[in-house]
Amino acid sequence: MSVIDEVKQRTDIVEVIGQYTSLAKAGRTFRGLCPFHSEKHPSFFVYPDQQSWHCFGACNTGGDVFSFIMKKEGFDFGEALRLLAERAGIALVSRFEPEAKGKEKERLYQVNQAAAEYFHHFLNSPAGEKARSYLAGRGLTLETVTTFQLGFSPNSWEALKQHLIDAGYSEDEMIAAGLLVAAEDNKTHDRFRNRLMFPIFDSRGRVTGFGARVLDESLPKYVNSPQTPVFDKSGSLYGINLAHKAIPQQDTAIIVEGYMDVIVAHQHGFPNVVAPMGTAITEKHVSTLKRLTKNMVLALDADAAGEEAMLRCASYENTIGAEVKVIILPEGKDPDDVIREDAQAWPNLLERALPVIDYTFDIVTSRLDLSLARDKSLAAERLLPVIAQMKDTVRQAHYLQKLARLLRVSEARLEVTLNRLMPGRRAGEAGRETAASALRPLLSSPVEEYCLALLLQHPELKARCRDLPPEYFENSENREVFLAYQQAEDVKLIREELDAAVREHFDSILGKSLLSNQMEQRYSGCVARLQEKFLRNLEIKRAEVRALEAEAGGTAAELAKLEEQGIEISLQLGELFARKGHRKPGAG
Ligand code: UTP
Ligand code: MN
Repeated sequence: MSVIDEVKQRTDIVEVIGQYTSLAKAGRTFRGLCPFHSEKHPSFFVYPDQQSWHCFGACNTGGDVFSFIMKKEGFDFGEALRLLAERAGIALVSRFEPEAKGKEKERLYQVNQAAAEYFHHFLNSPAGEKARSYLAGRGLTLETVTTFQLGFSPNSWEALKQHLIDAGYSEDEMIAAGLLVAAEDNKTHDRFRNRLMFPIFDSRGRVTGFGARVLDESLPKYVNSPQTPVFDKSGSLYGINLAHKAIPQQDTAIIVEGYMDVIVAHQHGFPNVVAPMGTAITEKHVSTLKRLTKNMVLALDADAAGEEAMLRCASYENTIGAEVKVIILPEGKDPDDVIREDAQAWPNLLERALPVIDYTFDIVTSRLDLSLARDKSLAAERLLPVIAQMKDTVRQAHYLQKLARLLRVSEARLEVTLNRLMPGRRAGEAGRETAASALRPLLSSPVEEYCLALLLQHPELKARCRDLPPEYFENSENREVFLAYQQAEDVKLIREELDAAVREHFDSILGKSLLSNQMEQRYSGCVARLQEKFLRNLEIKRAEVRALEAEAGGTAAELAKLEEQGIEISLQLGELFARKGHRKPGAG
């Protein structure tokens, strides 16, 4: 999936536009005062099913979420994409950075790799004896130590620095990679000293940073690499380089808390286990894993922090649509302890994994006496917001029922409160769910792309593109390509003109293989289909608005205006079909 598609899929147009103008639900649409012109009567509509917007007032124009942001913020496509990507928690930097930055990062991976090799050698040298025996004491085999490239850092301020200088790296590069600490007096020293070294790899097996553990009980137990251009502490997953194959195979990812837990699990034949870097699970972690599986199991201990994580996870589950389950570890034990004691205990625990929502229900209700009115209210107070967040209405209904049974109150009673927690939508309506599923057709528009491919591959059609209105391209990235094409002297120059984020899409259109006869006719057919699609969509939107206005007793002038717009659309459709010489508008 292209990054643009990813951003679209993770963006809810109602939420985005709702930040600029307040929207109220009206039938299957949302309506508000147009944010582009001043008006008293709301004529601006957002269509979640189509992920589009339209102003039937002075603007008489519309588009998708990108065009909205472009118009509202005065952004170009790339800027709008960046804003929406950031909002959706999708990293663009790694994919679209300038060459120079890419090279700089390449050096950081290399210096990290060189450091990992150095620490690994040092572990296997005579000086690494105490670290080796520590690892043996924790039950790690030599094979495991090699697989995870574990190492040991010398008890010295400059040993790594000297080694890496000799290998051709600069101090600046070592600082940028977090291997050296720059002190106040302009001096630098090794960050990791006398510690067990856990190199952290990304999915592609590049070393991005390190975790470093003391060999005794001193504090801090772990020192990690700082945030660097290649190491994102809140998004990295320890073990992902090894687990990324096993996770899709087993169709489950298991998330534990510590480095040691990952290592011991892998050693005992559970290679689908990963861990965050000592932080809570973030949306970024979940979205990395979601590319590999929809099933995630959290193995966290059931302390207060655990509960917090559960509540947050429930919301990831909603926003990202992955199934998150939970296993509860025996009191005071890590997965490391559990697995080393009895490896079979691990699959047994997994078998008893509970959906995170059910687990949340359990912890909330286990502390209450549900025969008391007061505790019933407390349970509803804590659980209804979790239910209100659910995007899937079937799931929502399921858990509402579950809560009603637990509390022995009627569902209808709970629904009243639930509705209050869900502004702008009534329970039982498939509002957001349909929005998400209707998104899919938007992700590709074969006719638009075919039309662009014709234009790009057949320069003789260039003269004809002038009377094709850009708004017929309802996909913003297609519209971007079309606009660049219209303005470019030569097809070869378009790519450079486009925002880097659109180039991938451009390349795929340019690479489409087409039949190469009757180009003129094919092009005319395409334009007619684009026009038809555009007008039909507009007509559907208009009709919806007309119905709403009539229902709400709109003024005669407003209704007349909408009627007029409807007549205009049907005239254009009529003309289109007359030209094509078949079917009447409205048929088929
Ligand atoms: P734990 O204290 O449970 O560590 O912290 P562990 O991995 O089980 O280590 P052992 O078993 O004592 O050797 C869990 C995770 O939290 C992060 C590390 O990622 C660790 O693996 N952490 C912990 C830190 O980053 N800094 C710390 O000081 C402690
Ligand atoms: Mn542990």
